Amino acid sequence: METKTILVDEHVNNDESYAQAVDNIRGGGVVAFPTETVYGLGADAMNAEAVDKIFEAKGRPTDNPLIVHVDSKETALEYVEEVPEKALQCMDAFWPGALTLIMQAKPDIFASNVTAGLPTVGIRVPNHPVALNLLKQLKRPVAAPSANTSGKPSPTLAEHVYFDMNGKIPLILDGGPTQVGIESTVLDMTCAPPVILRPGQVTKEQLEEVIGTVRLSSETKGNTPKAPGMKYAHYAPQAPLYLIEHNSELIEKAIDHIHGKKKKIAVLSREDFVAADYCFPLAVDKLYDSLRKCDQTDADLILACVLPENEDAALMNRLEKAADHKWFS
Ligand code: TXA
Ligand code: MG
Repeated sequence: METKTILVDEHVNNDESYAQAVDNIRGGGVVAFPTETVYGLGADAMNAEAVDKIFEAKGRPTDNPLIVHVDSKETALEYVEEVPEKALQCMDAFWPGALTLIMQAKPDIFASNVTAGLPTVGIRVPNHPVALNLLKQLKRPVAAPSANTSGKPSPTLAEHVYFDMNGKIPLILDGGPTQVGIESTVLDMTCAPPVILRPGQVTKEQLEEVIGTVRLSSETKGNTPKAPGMKYAHYAPQAPLYLIEHNSELIEKAIDHIHGKKKKIAVLSREDFVAADYCFPLAVDKLYDSLRKCDQTDADLILACVLPENEDAALMNRLEKAADHKWFS
């Protein structure tokens, strides 16, 4: 299959591009599109065969449910039931935006592979003009995980999507770099207090200002993960990634030590380490691009320089996963 990328620029008339995307999805196909967080790989959430193509293109385990994207709160409410007051408050405060709410799905609306057979569904309204336009024209809910090969860093550029999906999907809508750079916060509204299953741009503090106490999932402590996707390897670059305290002396010593073993090293950091073979920026909106850039090098090992106490919680969560919780020592 030939994969076509179409630039969807705000300054030109994009009717034809949207029409192609709409036709593809209505016809049971899969289309990659930008959201404010990362690029998504979208299919009609009511068509099981179409949704199967997402799992196939990504190589995603089928017990990991997908997020459903809709154009508004009103549309979302057509698909869920027993909606708690706090969920409505979150929709008003954070939608459109980087917050996915897990709620009870109305039975027999979504294809069962969207929810991996669960009675619940994750829904969000993305805050991106291209995503919103597409959803409005489609008039259908779109199941869309991140548009990367399963296990790899999520795509924040259309080029990332093309790299992973070339030959596997017909169409990529290119809306430029995504603004946020990491996936949405996932908040489980089916329990009290609500639980953050995946940290993201919308923080615990921001949520608590609107709905009171929110708990952080204990998934990092080895408990059974509640977001099924959390148990799988994530964001992993090819070379092993280690976390290291951001302390120049420590890092320079580590670089020397690794060079002593005749190995090449890539460093992810907020400052340049000239001794490293490669150095890429460490920031929420650059993280996945930096991880993918490491894959373009011959580095044998990657060090990510962090100060856990000061890091953004969502950034730290993704880094710990990418490193499989390994610290350099
Ligand atoms: O920012 C985002 O959320 C992006 C863009 C494309 O919208 N999407 C995304 O989807 O990150 P994905 O499939 O890569 O991640 C979905 C996460 C997984 O961890 C999954 O296990 C969890 O949401 N999830 C989905 N439905 C769920 C449900 N019913 N109950 C618990 N967790 C659920
Ligand atoms: Mg993903």
